Amino acid sequence: MTRIDLHRHLDGNIRLQTILELADKNGIVLPARDPDSLRPHVTISSPQPGLTDFLEKFRWPIAVLATPDDCRRVARENVEDAFRERLDHVELRFSPVFMASANGMGPAAVVEAVVDGARAGSREFGVPVTLIGVLSRTFGAETCFRELDALLGFRDRIAALDLAGDEAGFPARLFEPHFRKARNTGWRITIHAGEAAGPESIREAIDLLGAERIGHGTRAVEDPALMDELAEKEIGIESCLTSNVQTSAVPSYAAHPLRRFLEHGILATINTDDPAISGITFDHEIDIAAPEAGLTPELVALAMKNAERIAWRDGCLK
Ligand code: ADE
Ligand code: ZN
Repeated sequence: MTRIDLHRHLDGNIRLQTILELADKNGIVLPARDPDSLRPHVTISSPQPGLTDFLEKFRWPIAVLATPDDCRRVARENVEDAFRERLDHVELRFSPVFMASANGMGPAAVVEAVVDGARAGSREFGVPVTLIGVLSRTFGAETCFRELDALLGFRDRIAALDLAGDEAGFPARLFEPHFRKARNTGWRITIHAGEAAGPESIREAIDLLGAERIGHGTRAVEDPALMDELAEKEIGIESCLTSNVQTSAVPSYAAHPLRRFLEHGILATINTDDPAISGITFDHEIDIAAPEAGLTPELVALAMKNAERIAWRDGCLK
């Protein structure tokens, strides 16, 4: 079976050891100095009240990024992690403004370093990598124009654009011009939607931003017509089981709608979101989370086949 992770934030997958080493190098004081004591500050161990509480765990991993070299290292290590997890293809996404936010780096320098690190990692480890740029909606529409411009500087190395961050506070409609420009560039579009807001947010992502895939989309189950539309239009769902439990998008694995998506003929898939923040691997999601969510081995195989079908392999880094 082909192992593909379509939804993995490289800025949500910074190794504990790397956080410690970068903090030392950059003179950044962390709340703890050894791996076991630092772990609870950077990894989720139980469900949070909501998405924004989950996102607070990014504070220290982002705080240690101070130079483009740090970003290059993180990107390369993400490809090494994908290799160690025996992934056949990984789609890595990142938000340059978010990565630059703690120490005043320029977002363009971050994009250049991430592209360089991911490409070096892909060559070194032989894992095909598709890069997806993320606009962090939490920073607002103006800052997202700057973020988009930084990403467009490397338009040929980046395959797609995503919108992440505080979905409830910053609806898709604020970002229509950004995504129009991205579509005109020839980029594919995936949008975080229906994770921290209702099915209307998924409709906005499709109708206003041109989403061809939806990140999470858990709340689509509340709207039968939308479920039909997702299936008919072959709009893929990038499900992230553990992340959805940890952000309280769903109350438990058992309550997760992935099984219903698959049974409805929607091109739903199994992904990790933020492996280091969530304390998980791809295998954890396939072997532990998916059965807990009621998936039979046949449905797991179907989800993995769906990932092959909706992956953006054409946009792989060369
Ligand atoms: N950024 C990283 N993980 C995210 C998630 N699950 N939702 C929105 N933005 C994110
Ligand atoms: Zn995500």
